Amino acid sequence: MKVLVTGGAGFIGSHTVDLLVERGHDVRILDNFENQVHGGSRPTYINGTAELTSGDILDKKTWVKALTGVEAVIHLAAMVGMGQSMYQPVRYMMANSIGTANMYEAIIENPEIKNNLKKIVSASSKSIYGEGSYRCGQHGVINPVNRPVDQLARGQWEVLCPHCGNEMAPVGITEDKPPQNLAAYALSKYDTERLTLMFGDTLKIPSITFRYFNVYGPRQSLGNPYTGVAAIFLSRVKNDNPPVIYEDGKMVRDFIFVEDVAMGNVLALEKGRETDVFNLGTGKSVTIEQIARTLIELNGREIEPKITNEFRPGDSRHDFADIGRAEKKLGFKPKWSLKSGMEKLVEWSDDQKAVDKFDQAEKERIRYLGG
Ligand SMILES: NC(=O)c1ccc[n+]([C@@H]2O[C@H](COP(=O)([O-])OP(=O)(O)OC[C@H]3O[C@@H](n4cnc5c(N)ncnc54)[C@H](O)[C@@H]3O)[C@@H](O)[C@H]2O)c1
Ligand SMILES: [Zn+2]
Repeated sequence: MKVLVTGGAGFIGSHTVDLLVERGHDVRILDNFENQVHGGSRPTYINGTAELTSGDILDKKTWVKALTGVEAVIHLAAMVGMGQSMYQPVRYMMANSIGTANMYEAIIENPEIKNNLKKIVSASSKSIYGEGSYRCGQHGVINPVNRPVDQLARGQWEVLCPHCGNEMAPVGITEDKPPQNLAAYALSKYDTERLTLMFGDTLKIPSITFRYFNVYGPRQSLGNPYTGVAAIFLSRVKNDNPPVIYEDGKMVRDFIFVEDVAMGNVLALEKGRETDVFNLGTGKSVTIEQIARTLIELNGREIEPKITNEFRPGDSRHDFADIGRAEKKLGFKPKWSLKSGMEKLVEWSDDQKAVDKFDQAEKERIRYLGG
């Protein structure tokens, strides 16, 4: 198939492009080489057999040009910093909501484009869920609201059952959990997702949108302090600075290796028949402290992570995916263990320059949102 990958110069996009090329697809990339991600230069890893279009998804004419002649789109271009979206909401809503809406106007207004399209895949995010899902021994599965600030101020980190007040254990999140959209980024990704599902139905183009969990691996920007906790920790460690961890470090996340995400995208393109939304994670959970310690150890450094016992309002305590739907309907099965994926990440980073901008991003966050 002739496939357009937007954001194809980025982290997930470039791995997706490589896999598509490997499987014999003909790939076109649309990317604007966002300065915050690429630091003012074009990455050297871009697949040489892909056709490269430089342009902005905010420009409808760019979309028309990029979409002409393609049979499928994998739309990944977006602004990706959750915290930053809370002091630059216009930038996020523009790129992620309006940028996606532009794609649909370009399709709607050009029947020759629409008639060629057999599949659209887009990137949503687990961030739409907000707080994770839990089980109370007495009350079963609960989808709680985010923890009240006065509870966090007391250092009570675990989520309490709204009925009995007992601590609850996290369980995998399923796709039917109602969204909470606790940040402008999450809301803008929910727009991407809803537009994909809505127009999948009205335009009758089979469409799949993925709620990726925490993606990590080679090529994640080591100079972008706004996204990707593994990359942020790695930049800290490579500069001999301690990774900074909020709360007590025991919160869990679902870390999925980027090549598994690329495989999910390709399966959606080749196999998914119906318009649908899927979680994309491993279904396994690991604590943030463990991620920090693993990266320190793999880099052979003598650093202790800095566990601050401070909190960021709106952070979820625990979240990880239930991937049953993607397993069943797409045949998705993650291949990479956390250990082998982290080793691959660190091996790649050995000859990469990591600019640690964490302190700068923290100062910005505190200036705009308070400590
Ligand atoms: N990395 C994760 O853990 C994660 C988790 C959930 C969802 N996602 C989603 O996956 C997608 C890819 O994320 P990533 O981690 O590869 O990020 P990334 O920043 O590495 O890649 C995004 C790419 O989009 C490009 N881009 C940004 N704005 C653009 C615009 N206006 N026009 C054209 N191109 C533009 C950037 O230059 C970049 O190459 C995004 O939609 C993101 O929201 C990522
Ligand atoms: Zn209870």
